[in-house]
Amino acid sequence: MELKNDTFIKALLRQDTDYTPVWLMRQAGRYLPEYREVRANAGGFLDLCRNTDFATVVTLQPVERFNLDAAILFSDILTVPDAMGLGLSFVAGEGPKFAHPIQDENAVKQLAVPDMEKLSYVFNAVASIKQALNGRVPLIGFSGSPWTLACYMVEGGSSREFRLIKSMLYSRPDLLHRVLEINAQAVTAYLNQQIAAGANAVQIFDTWGGVLSDKAFGEFSLQYITKIINGLTKTDADGNPIPVIVFVKGGGLWLEQMANCGADALGLDWTVDIAAARRLVGDKVALQGNFDPMALFGTKQAVEAEVARILAGYGKGNGHIFNLGHGIHQHTDPERVKDLVEAVHSLSKAYH
Ligand code: CP3
Repeated sequence: MELKNDTFIKALLRQDTDYTPVWLMRQAGRYLPEYREVRANAGGFLDLCRNTDFATVVTLQPVERFNLDAAILFSDILTVPDAMGLGLSFVAGEGPKFAHPIQDENAVKQLAVPDMEKLSYVFNAVASIKQALNGRVPLIGFSGSPWTLACYMVEGGSSREFRLIKSMLYSRPDLLHRVLEINAQAVTAYLNQQIAAGANAVQIFDTWGGVLSDKAFGEFSLQYITKIINGLTKTDADGNPIPVIVFVKGGGLWLEQMANCGADALGLDWTVDIAAARRLVGDKVALQGNFDPMALFGTKQAVEAEVARILAGYGKGNGHIFNLGHGIHQHTDPERVKDLVEAVHSLSKAYH
């Protein structure tokens, strides 16, 4: 289907646009009262993900409320290890938990690429959202990176120190490489099925890449991300390219390396100077980011000033997609999000 607004796709491919497109990581979620209402009716977060109609409704909520240039599939990165049999649950106030984490050699040996049939609810959601969007804006599919997925799979949930997975990395790197290899194969198949179901672009989230040492980042994260991108379907059925975005939180030190991984665009967190980032990557990739999500807790004027600063930092020309440097916080006022989107659209015209 023809896209009515393809500004986001054009910016990812570094083609000229009339303004800078904008979407927000975690744009559907608890900061929206209409999300909280649907979630209460659905039961829990995973029930939302697994039900095609609920997933479709909440994906469209931010697109209907704000003038966003892309929608992102409502799901989670942890669907993949769940399909591997690790037993995912979300405990209120504690985040994700796995009943069967991968913590010894035996568990690593038994780990396998899951049957994609187990994830058909995700692909059904993609197809349903595409139909509901009716070409309004592109739909982004996504997955976690092999390393970030492994962090949750080995730790059994969220972690501050990553003691268990780093113990494996430094004492049994062979075991960790096996987990990462399986994750890379699973993510490749998973993203290709999302593309087949209608995703117009895909993003790989490496939320925990930044906790690795300089040497380990290349060996345990970027190598596997590169492998995935090499295995992705390049175009849709009509021959339209499917751009790939790689977001490594804390990855600002590795932008030049990352610019060679095959991605069309790199996500920037808020610690990076976007002007310096652009000089480093040259015309190899587009850049997405890099507004501090906490700056949405400032006034309307402060939000606008921060938008202006980032747009000026990137400067004139194509290849910038405005976004946050990480997911939106649940206590964010939706009015400030509206201010941000309007400021990006109006102020960015001067740069195109
Ligand atoms: O961006 C979007 O709007 C699409 C949906 C999306 C979710 N999770 C929905 C979600 C995406 C792209 C993700 C990715 C994800 N999930 C990441 C990578 C990006 C990042 O934020 O770093 C990670 C690490 C996860 C794992 C995860 N899921 C955690 C740690 C948590 C608990 C944290 C929290 O905010 O409670 C989740 C739950 C989750 N995923 C929620 C949403 C909307 C909150 C669920 C709820 O209680 O309603």
